[in-house]
Amino acid sequence: MARKLEGTVALVTGASSGIGEATALALAAEGAHVALAARRRDRLEALAERIGALDVKALVLEADITQPADARDAVEKTASEFGRLDIVVNNAGVMLLGPVVGADPGEWQRMVDLNVNALLHVSLAALPHLLNAAQSEPRRVADLINISSTAGRTARAMSGVYNLTKFGIGAFSESLRQEVTKRHVRVALVEPGATSTELLGQNRPAVQEMLRSRLGELERLESADIANAIVYVVTQPRHVAINEILIRPTEQEY
Ligand SMILES: NC(=O)c1ccc[n+]([C@@H]2O[C@H](COP(=O)([O-])OP(=O)(O)OC[C@H]3O[C@@H](n4cnc5c(N)ncnc54)[C@H](OP(=O)(O)O)[C@@H]3O)[C@@H](O)[C@H]2O)c1
Repeated sequence: MARKLEGTVALVTGASSGIGEATALALAAEGAHVALAARRRDRLEALAERIGALDVKALVLEADITQPADARDAVEKTASEFGRLDIVVNNAGVMLLGPVVGADPGEWQRMVDLNVNALLHVSLAALPHLLNAAQSEPRRVADLINISSTAGRTARAMSGVYNLTKFGIGAFSESLRQEVTKRHVRVALVEPGATSTELLGQNRPAVQEMLRSRLGELERLESADIANAIVYVVTQPRHVAINEILIRPTEQEY
């Protein structure tokens, strides 16, 4: 059976672990050539090897996308290597939780730099390519997927600045969607709940402990569960735009 993304090119940020890694694999399994952006080159190279076995090409892009030049270069190298860009998954993100009172502003800066500013710079560079791809075969439609969170819909104590970044992505995505949807660039927001990845491990030990007790024994989502949703979004027919998907573990209340 023909794969649904045959002849297309995708760029996934934060492809070296978790949701980004699973998404790159899932897009490749549907026939897309995939560019993999993150800082850990060794992880990207190992993933590229797995993707190569799926009979598509993978491009390793070692990039710190909080640097606007790296964000722009990641997009331009993808487009020049593969000749087009059909799908961008703005996935790279960091979640550093804790009380606002006495917070480390350096942690706030890291979240704003990556969750907001890097996503903006990647999107800015990618949009001309996505608009072009939307004019051409094989699909005559293109996709920009922004990974938000349940934290982009519900604010909770200890999560103020992470909430701020993810709520912000939601607003930006809807505004951009209205700008480009008539030109067949679909903008979608994907909002995962608790997913088993390396994300929590970036937090200070006391915060990790707080999160573990907040979540309890909850059966978390797997990265592949989110990747499946992303594949669902980008494999819809041209006239169907899935604008937003909220996916929680069944046992997650908030
Ligand atoms: N896990 C969850 O429960 C959950 C829930 C809701 C939403 N999300 C969202 O899902 C997205 C992916 O997170 P994850 O859970 O898969 O966590 P993860 O395993 O920690 O993945 C984060 C990715 O971001 C990359 N990254 C970090 N800083 C970067 C930088 N400066 N430049 C380029 N890449 C960078 C990391 O790669 P390098 O370190 O190699 O650069 C890594 O590939 C995030 O936006 C997160 O907010 C996760």
